[in-house]
Amino acid sequence: MSTFVNVNGRMASGADAVIPVFDHGFLYGEGIYETLRTYHGEPFLFDRHMQRLRASAAMLLLDVPFTDDELLTRSIDTMAAAALGHMPDGSIADAYIRILLTRGVGELTYDPVATPTPSLIVIVKPLPETPAHQYQHGVKVVLVELIRNHPRSVNPLIKSNNLLNNALAMQEAIRRGGVEGVFRNYRGELSECSQSNLFIVKSGRVLTPALDSGLLAGITRAFVFEIGAGLGVRVEEATLVDEDLLTADEAFFTSTTKELLPITRVDDTTIGTGTPGPVTRRLLAEYRKRASELTGAGRIKSEGTRPQAESKP
Ligand SMILES: Cc1ncc(COP(=O)(O)O)c(C=O)c1O
Repeated sequence: MSTFVNVNGRMASGADAVIPVFDHGFLYGEGIYETLRTYHGEPFLFDRHMQRLRASAAMLLLDVPFTDDELLTRSIDTMAAAALGHMPDGSIADAYIRILLTRGVGELTYDPVATPTPSLIVIVKPLPETPAHQYQHGVKVVLVELIRNHPRSVNPLIKSNNLLNNALAMQEAIRRGGVEGVFRNYRGELSECSQSNLFIVKSGRVLTPALDSGLLAGITRAFVFEIGAGLGVRVEEATLVDEDLLTADEAFFTSTTKELLPITRVDDTTIGTGTPGPVTRRLLAEYRKRASELTGAGRIKSEGTRPQAESKP
């Protein structure tokens, strides 16, 4: 399997894919995106990602001149070009899919009149593998100095191509030996990580910062609420501060590509017993089970792929 990119309907290899320099996505970071992954060769929770893509676009007053079916077809065509390979056990290798929509090509002005046609780009590549030892032993994260964007600045609810805040946080995390950086918001509360949502476990309750704390409404985050409900584990939004994380029994972060990754250290502080805790492990196992059940039977367009319980966090 190799990297393939569809740029405005034209397929190219990863090395050959280009966009014009006058695309406002490149010039101004004006655009939005979604990151999806496949299980059993099918994009997981496609409908939900498209819903969020449209919500992000609406916040930029960016038109999405494509139906979900057209976006799905474009993704599947790009997956076909990338030729998903097979694993040694015969299963289909998992793919990473990134769908980007930018303001499009136009003159050097912020006036959207200059850019009537958005650019649509779909990138497909092998899913980057998260080392198994990170799931077994957990990872270190750091509390970064940089704060998360104020919701009245570039709202973190927008899954925006303008990722400078995230990139700088991750650079700080890497410099300080973390695999992820945890942001505080402008009020000093915990919000989310540079590319994932944050959860802690305290006395059997699973807590995550509320959307009001200024964060992306993660698709995985919402799925954890549903899984928790199914398992009888309480998952709730809460206002969290440093102390809550540092004294948590367990902690983990969530994202489409990493699922649930246990956090066992925050800077120099060991979290809980220093190993992935039972609640995190149970939720991760259930997450994988549900992801596997919801894919693989050619049902990605059907509502039946979606758990019926609407437990919006
Ligand atoms: C800032 C941020 N928060 C949270 C997430 C997790 O979102 P999801 O679970 O939808 O992948 C991401 C994913 O890239 C992210 O960039």
